[in-house]
Amino acid sequence: MIAVAELLRDNAFINGYWVNARSGSRFAVLNPADGREIATVPDLDDSDTQDAIDAAEGALREWKERLAGERANLLKRWHELILEHADDLAMLMTLEQGKPLAESKAEISYAASFVEWFAEEARRAYGDVIPSHAADKRIMALRQPIGVVAAITPWNFPSAMITRKVAPALAVGCTVIVKPSELTPLSALALARLAEDAGFPSGVLNVITTSRPDVVGKTLMASSVVRKLSFTGSTAVGKILLKGCADTVKRVSLELGGNAPFIVFSDADLDAAIEGAVASKYRNAGQTCVCANRIFVHRDVAEEFIVRLTGRTQALKVGPGVDDQIEIGPLINNAAIDKVERLIGGAVKAGAQIRTGGKRHDLGGTFFTPTLLSDVTDDMDITNEEIFGPVSAVSVFSTESEVIDRANNTPYGLAAYVYTCDNARIWRITEALEYGIVGVNTGVTSTAVAPFGGVKESGLGREGSRMGIEEYLETKYVCIGGV
Ligand code: SIN
Repeated sequence: MIAVAELLRDNAFINGYWVNARSGSRFAVLNPADGREIATVPDLDDSDTQDAIDAAEGALREWKERLAGERANLLKRWHELILEHADDLAMLMTLEQGKPLAESKAEISYAASFVEWFAEEARRAYGDVIPSHAADKRIMALRQPIGVVAAITPWNFPSAMITRKVAPALAVGCTVIVKPSELTPLSALALARLAEDAGFPSGVLNVITTSRPDVVGKTLMASSVVRKLSFTGSTAVGKILLKGCADTVKRVSLELGGNAPFIVFSDADLDAAIEGAVASKYRNAGQTCVCANRIFVHRDVAEEFIVRLTGRTQALKVGPGVDDQIEIGPLINNAAIDKVERLIGGAVKAGAQIRTGGKRHDLGGTFFTPTLLSDVTDDMDITNEEIFGPVSAVSVFSTESEVIDRANNTPYGLAAYVYTCDNARIWRITEALEYGIVGVNTGVTSTAVAPFGGVKESGLGREGSRMGIEEYLETKYVCIGGV
């Protein structure tokens, strides 16, 4: 068992070594619950990033030539180690990210599930033998690792968004450079420490910490050695990365912002709809890309739904995530709380009603009171921007076709939720919604076994499921003549 102190790494991990920045610069990682410093980590720049690229390139050949079963066994060992250290990893996550300990534990098990899933999939990266077009020729399609991968990951899921990218990449023989968010690098470094213990060869997995993601990002994008970039984060940054990868024609996977509609029809099981709304809206204090952003409720059940969801919202326990019973931790930083205030202020000015909350929490810092707004309309900023905070924004609809049009009226298309007991409607509406993920009578859809990803400006590609491995494979067509 690795001691807790060993998991709290404060150096970057490049080519199997724990290293400081060449410049010696470091930056602080803060606890969002109290603003205190937890640790400092190296502030890497372009030259350090190049070291990581060289390391990943150097390790590639040996790694991709290993048997799939060998790679699978290392992933399985990593999976076991993550589970063995789940409590310590969860505590570290709560300290640097703020989410309640129960959610951190759930995320560690979610993170581990990707490693397990892709360890199993490693042996199944099948190619094809294709019936030939000519008698003297044989045709095959081989599936090969794409090469060196850069994974740029967010602060809202500091572990799961790493394993969701790294595990499939390693499974098929790619080598990886992870650039975690500057707000939550410690979870990434702890995962790397466990990967080291699992026995991955040097250079196969590298973690680079920086407070200057633009500098490091430019080096990763400009490198012709890096053949694939996978990013989870905002749509605005995703667009910059997509453009930046054009010069080297990299493969790109993007898991970007959402604006999830949560639709409750009059025939819905309201108890289930309210529990689903709480689960979807308030997970991680509303800071997920799949959180219900716009709650549409049918006119006939709207007031009952609003009153009951208001009660559930008021009852949520707010506080530092390390305390038992806490359901809503702090928001990640001041920018997040400023945004929530701006969106609520704008909505109220335009006619929305605050049913509960609507203001900063008495605990101070970045704690925000869980909020429910009714009378929200489609022209408000709160309807058109990702809220990323504990705010339910409820509006009313009258017909199925109206709510489909309103739900689809956004550049985003990640997750949508529908509550209805009408089977025919389930088919009609899931087909009509322009979203990559549709939850029917559930507010929680995330799992390693299903394809996660968005359409429109919510992203490119899928993570998890057997499709998640495709993102790290190239197809090589082989034509054998003279047969
Ligand atoms: C995200 O918010 O980016 C990921 C959420 C999930 O995997 O459930």
